[in-house]
Amino acid sequence: MLWPAPRDAEEAGLLAQIDAARLPGHVAIIMDGNGRWARQRRLPRAAGHRAGTRSVREVIEYSARLGLHALTLYAFSMENWKRPKPEREMLWKLLHQYLKKELPALQRNNVRFQAIGRLHELPVLVQADIASAVALTAGNTGLLLTVALNYGARAELVDAFNAILDRVDGNGGMGGLRVDEEMIRANLYTQSLPDPDLLIRTSGELRVSNFLLWQIAYAEIWVTGTYWPDFNRKHLLQAIIDYQKRERRYGGLSYRDAAQ
Ligand code: FPP
Repeated sequence: MLWPAPRDAEEAGLLAQIDAARLPGHVAIIMDGNGRWARQRRLPRAAGHRAGTRSVREVIEYSARLGLHALTLYAFSMENWKRPKPEREMLWKLLHQYLKKELPALQRNNVRFQAIGRLHELPVLVQADIASAVALTAGNTGLLLTVALNYGARAELVDAFNAILDRVDGNGGMGGLRVDEEMIRANLYTQSLPDPDLLIRTSGELRVSNFLLWQIAYAEIWVTGTYWPDFNRKHLLQAIIDYQKRERRYGGLSYRDAAQ
């Protein structure tokens, strides 16, 4: 994959600060602020979501070019069903258009697509879009793009525990069952993904909103006040630069303290 060619001096300066050998393998993003972006401009919320797909496109393509292993986007939470039906339908339409229109770009950028969440509860047409994008990009070997749809982290854990119990029942009851971390990890929707190294949230909210609760145990969190439709390649680069300045200790000592 081609390392990105900077469009201006500011982007070149940011790119120059990135250590390509220490990129976060998996970046997860809580895309927030589409509605506020639209309200600020006296536009309907739909315009915010439409503008948000531009950021989606840019971040996917740029992540692929940087050589990230995985990018996970929180597009529709289980709680989002509380939104008015026309807004939900607009989001499905945007996703449909995105998957149709952007497929050639996904192929060109060697991106493999998958979705996580209670996908069987989504409208059947959306399920069909997902299935075809998954099938068509299955052979790609670059960025693994995961879109979280009808996703909730607590529901994911409930589903994982039930999947474990189903297996045990199949083996003749629950006698002697002990659950361990590896068993839980292997039954999460994200079983094919490493844990996120970097979690980005836009629009300034300091919450994790039921997103990947198990998987973000040691993720570095980076929050920007920027609304999602204004989020671009420079914000992504800044997040990675800040991530690379942090020292990840996973509960151990810092290198300096360990040396003493
Ligand atoms: C949060 O803004 C955004 C969403 C709930 C939807 C995200 C969807 C997209 C960016 C478009 C389609 C996605 C793909 C993957 C093509 P909000 O509405 O919660 O904003 P607010 O908090 O300011 O109201």
